[in-house]
Amino acid sequence: MWSLFLLFLLSLLSYLFTDELIPKLDHLFINAGMFGIDLCKANKNKIPEAVGVISGCVFLITCFMFIPIVFGYDLMDREHFPHNEFAELLAALLSICCMLLLGFADDVLDLRWRYKLLLPTIASLPLLVVYYVNFNSTTFVIPIPLRHWLGTSIDIGFLYYIYMGMLAVFCTNAINILAGINGLEVGQSVVIALSIVIFNIIEISGDQHKAHTFSLHILIPYLATTLALLKHNWYPSKVFVGDTFCYVSGMTFAVVGILSHFSKTVLLFFLPQIINFVYSVPQLFHFIPCPRHRLPKYSAETDLLYPSRTIIVKKDMLFISKLTIKFASLFRLVDITEDSESIMMNNMTLINLFLIKCGPMSEVRLTISLLIFQACCSCIAFLIRYPMASYFYDK
Ligand code: UD1
Ligand code: MG
Repeated sequence: MWSLFLLFLLSLLSYLFTDELIPKLDHLFINAGMFGIDLCKANKNKIPEAVGVISGCVFLITCFMFIPIVFGYDLMDREHFPHNEFAELLAALLSICCMLLLGFADDVLDLRWRYKLLLPTIASLPLLVVYYVNFNSTTFVIPIPLRHWLGTSIDIGFLYYIYMGMLAVFCTNAINILAGINGLEVGQSVVIALSIVIFNIIEISGDQHKAHTFSLHILIPYLATTLALLKHNWYPSKVFVGDTFCYVSGMTFAVVGILSHFSKTVLLFFLPQIINFVYSVPQLFHFIPCPRHRLPKYSAETDLLYPSRTIIVKKDMLFISKLTIKFASLFRLVDITEDSESIMMNNMTLINLFLIKCGPMSEVRLTISLLIFQACCSCIAFLIRYPMASYFYDK
């Protein structure tokens, strides 16, 4: 327990350090040509982009400094050194470090979407190798209602590794596509990290004590550095976090989910991201045209955000595009206007859906509404994980 206390102190220092460092270094990003324009503001100031690399580096440095603390006793007794636990922590940090590097490369080079999908798969390889060596458990416990047909558990073998690789791809990209308004990328990551920390604290005295302590060792410094970043990224943003931050965050959540064996619970905390991904599928797979930016449209006259739109030319429409539009309008999930040649439809993101359902609103109010929704989804996740779990799994 004392190691958690020390980690807490170390993380407090890393919060203060990140908070100091960001305003001191931001001009370096602008000098290097790494800046973006805030598309939801009237002014066209240059805002440093990819500043997530600062919080990501401080996060990793804090974790490195913590290694001698957590393995302090074991280092004195080298014969009984827990090499497997050490390898787990190193693989976790290596995967996050890889993602930081690849995310930064993406921010600099603006990679195409197919590479964005490939990067987390590569970065998750060290993790999967350690999982294979230390656990190699590829069994899924079947929920009680399905046991009549499928038995108590099912060993899916190699497919389990594909599932874990896909989890890393999903977590990283899901945060990156629920983005575009000040504070949203970082805010949602803070809510998810806090939810996992609460889950770890509830479970820490149980039989999975080690796994939950491992998760806290990673998430406490992550939360500290991310909160410092949020302070500078909150409305009106002085810095943009870039894909670097989204990738580091997604990989951090995937790492703790995989190595601490609660990946399904992590996915429950990703409910808004899952909704946003499913809703985005027609644009991600180009059944519906997908512009470079799908973030809401800003009106300088009203200082409010409105749903942004995409134009579909009727004669270019595929059967699947027509089906998507019919299905989405049937459930009132899209706002459509049409003329004889084209259809104008909102870009299919959760952010635009909020604007359609609740009406135009200011940027800061939209961010807060989406973060409240994220927190409500975490409450639902806890409800599914605890009171309702007994209907699906044995205690
Ligand atoms: C993803 C989204 C894209 C969205 C973008 C916003 C998909 C398929 N891609 O693309 O629709 O527009 O994120 O981040 O869903 N920006 C702001 N305000 C903010 C944050 C970002 O105006 O609070 C703008 C800035 O111009 C910034 C740019 O978005 O430079 C960053 O976009 P980037 O992260 O490169 O976009 P993608 O991740 O490729
Ligand atoms: Mg991005």
